[in-house]
Order: sequence, then C-alpha cells, then structure tokens
Amino acid sequence: MSFPKDFIWGAATSSYQIEGAVNRDGRGPSIWDTFCATPGKVYKGHDGARACEHYDRWEEDLDILQELGMKAYRFSIAWPRVLPTGFEKQGLQAGLDFYSKLVDGLLERGITPWATLYHWDLPQPLDDAGSWPWRGICPHFVDFADVMSRSLGDRVANWITHNEPWVVSMLGYKSGEHAPGIKDMDKALAAAHHILLSHGMAVPVIRDNVKDAKVGITLNLCPSYPASNSEIDRVAAERFDGHFNRWFLDPLYGRDYPRDMIEHYEREGFALPEIHEGDFEHMAVDTDFLGINFYSRGIIRGEEEGNDPQTLHGTGVKTDMDWEVYGPSLRRLLTDVHRDYPTKEIIITENGAAYATGPDEDGRVKDTRRRAYFEQHLEACASAIDEGVPLTGYFAWSLLDNFEWAFGYAKRFGLVHVDYETQKRTIKDSAYWYRDFVAERS
Ligand code: FCB
Repeated sequence: MSFPKDFIWGAATSSYQIEGAVNRDGRGPSIWDTFCATPGKVYKGHDGARACEHYDRWEEDLDILQELGMKAYRFSIAWPRVLPTGFEKQGLQAGLDFYSKLVDGLLERGITPWATLYHWDLPQPLDDAGSWPWRGICPHFVDFADVMSRSLGDRVANWITHNEPWVVSMLGYKSGEHAPGIKDMDKALAAAHHILLSHGMAVPVIRDNVKDAKVGITLNLCPSYPASNSEIDRVAAERFDGHFNRWFLDPLYGRDYPRDMIEHYEREGFALPEIHEGDFEHMAVDTDFLGINFYSRGIIRGEEEGNDPQTLHGTGVKTDMDWEVYGPSLRRLLTDVHRDYPTKEIIITENGAAYATGPDEDGRVKDTRRRAYFEQHLEACASAIDEGVPLTGYFAWSLLDNFEWAFGYAKRFGLVHVDYETQKRTIKDSAYWYRDFVAERS
C-alpha cells in the first residue's frame, strides 16, 4: 500500500470522552453532564466525570502519541471549559491555558495539532436557551470560534468547525439517544440547519484570526447499499443516502437541500427548517477540506410505503458495536464523494473499531481484529488515492479507550487500552502495527 510521503498520519480524541475534570477550574456544565445524570440514558449510568483523566495526564498521552510516531493529533475543545455558559465573549483563562499548553506540548513533540471546535459538549445554558434548534445559538458558536482561533491561531493552523452534524441533530433531537435527548424530527432538522449555518458563519472568522488557516467540517458518512435489487430497496437506499449524506453534503457544496428529500420530509409531515436569505451562501462557504468519519456501510431494506427504511448490518465480520467490517465500502464512499462534490482535499478524521480485548497475563493487548480493521480500511484509502481521490490524511479513532457516549465505557475504540480503575495506559498491538505502518511510509 503506498501513500504520499507528506500524508498526514494521526490519531483522534474528543474532549468529553477523555478529559474528565468536569468541575475543575471554572468549567461550566455541558449537556453531556446533564444527560449522563439522567437515569436510563447512558449505559450503567456512566459519565465523563473522570473519563481518562486526560486533563491531568495529558503529558503522558502526548508522549504516547510521540512514541507511536504520529504526525498529527486531532482533539476537541470543551466549549464550557473556555466559555462556561456559552454566552461569554471572553474566554476563561484557565480553560484557554489548558488548550494552549496542550498545543505547545504537541509542537514540542513535532506533532501537528488539529482542533475541532464542536464535538458535542454544548454549555448547558445554551441548551436551556434553545439549543441547536434555536437560530440564536449561531452567533454564540461564532464567538467560541473567535475566542479559540485568537487564542491558538498562532500555533494551530488546522480547524474543524463541527463533528458529525448528522449525529448531533438526529441522535440528539430525533431519536434522543444522545444529549440533549429530544425526540422531535422538526427540531432535528432545525438543529442540522443551524449547525451548518454556524459552520458557515465561523469559517471566515477563523480565517481572519489564523494566518494560512486550513478549515473544514467533519461529516460522518455512510455509503448506502440496497439490500436487494428490488425497486423498493433501491428507493429506500437512495432515501437513506439523502437523509444521512446528501442532506449535509449538498448545502455545504452549494446545492441547497436535496429536492427529493425536501419532498419526502414534507410528505412525512415534518416542518422544514426556517431558511433565511443568505443561509445557503453561508453554508456553502469555501473550505479547504472535507473531514469524513467512517465506520461502516448501510445495507438498506425498504419497508412498505411510509415506513422508515431499515438499516441491516450485513452478514460479515462485526465489531462490538455490531457494525459490519467491510473495507471496500470506504473506497466506494471516497470515490463517490470525490465524483459528486468539489472537495479540495478529503481527510479521514475518524476510522476505527470497538473490540473489548484487554491485556493478557503477559501484559500485551493482542487486538488482532482491530489491526485487521485498520489494514483493510487503509487499503481502501490507498486504492482511492490511486483512483485520483485527493485524500491527504487519516486519523485513527481513537488514541485512547474512552467514554463512548450512550455506551459509556463499555465499548473500547482505543489504540491504547485504559484501565479505568488505575488509569494505566497500555499500548495495544494494533497501535504498534499502526506505528510501523506509518514509519515505513514517512
Ligand atoms: C463517532 C464520534 C466519536 C466516537 C466514534 C466511535 O460518531 O465522532 O466521538 O464516538 O463515533
């Protein structure tokens, strides 16, 4: 498998999933603190209060990144750590200092920082004020982007505005599986609109504050395969693609919302988001890259007219998330996106697999299935590049086992095993394999 010499090799994490220290140094509450405290929402009542104690152990974690030969590290900034209510216009010094020393620590180790602004820990007061379905949230997100890009912009060139607008809107406001736990499709569509709008409003602000900024957004995309050749399955697969992928990609690349999906949502009786003049221009702001998080494909079976299409999980090998492992679908996704949208660069901002494998008696973590997952997905990346896809980077999810949202600590995605009792880190075999894979290609 060959990759360009300057390919960006990295690993990713997010703030709420690893930091812990939720009450320290003036951090305000986030919607995930609230959601975790609500009985029945998160597996066994787990929460991010301690997580991987990265807030205190960040140096050890950066040493691991360096030991693994990572060229880049994608992390996210906890909004309530720097703007405790979300309404402030000035950042809280302790919060700014934490990310500043993290960035310095990366640079000292020769690792390029990639900052994500919104990876889901919304300040609770902004949620109380109306959350993402509320248009008034957008200027507050822009303030957050402004504060952070001013603070770190002299050292951080790479910025991701939002992580996974589909998950934020649909799991947060339609299925209620994620914070803030709302079940209302109208609100989910409004949330998605304001996430994309706030992205569009924030990009120029980041560019103003950061010389030579590289700015983009990360979508979780899922290539859609009909379960059979039947008309009903093909229509359902097309609709799944519209709901999951095109609803976000189209407006980001200047095509407004997809017509077929507008008609579908209207037929279903959902209220479409309120669109103001200029919204689509904002959403289609020029970006430098598209971040893609990829985990698994969707195999779609249509039901009778009017029902939601059902996603099957394939018959092949599966991870602990019950997600099918099928590398070639990543190659198809990349070539499709490249064919259909004028992305300048594409970066895999997350890709990985959950397997529970822990240390053996000899202390080694022999997670061969994770290694196989990486191998086949990197193969997909290499062939997409051969086919002309401008793929320039790959971040493994995740550096550490961590708080996997509604699944709590039950699902382990890490390159590094974390013993949550002792906080001991153990580098897994898959991480050593990834280290060697990268070293051979740099
Ligand atoms: C993605 C999230 C990330 C992690 C992985 C498994 O949807 O961005 O935080 O939970 O899934």
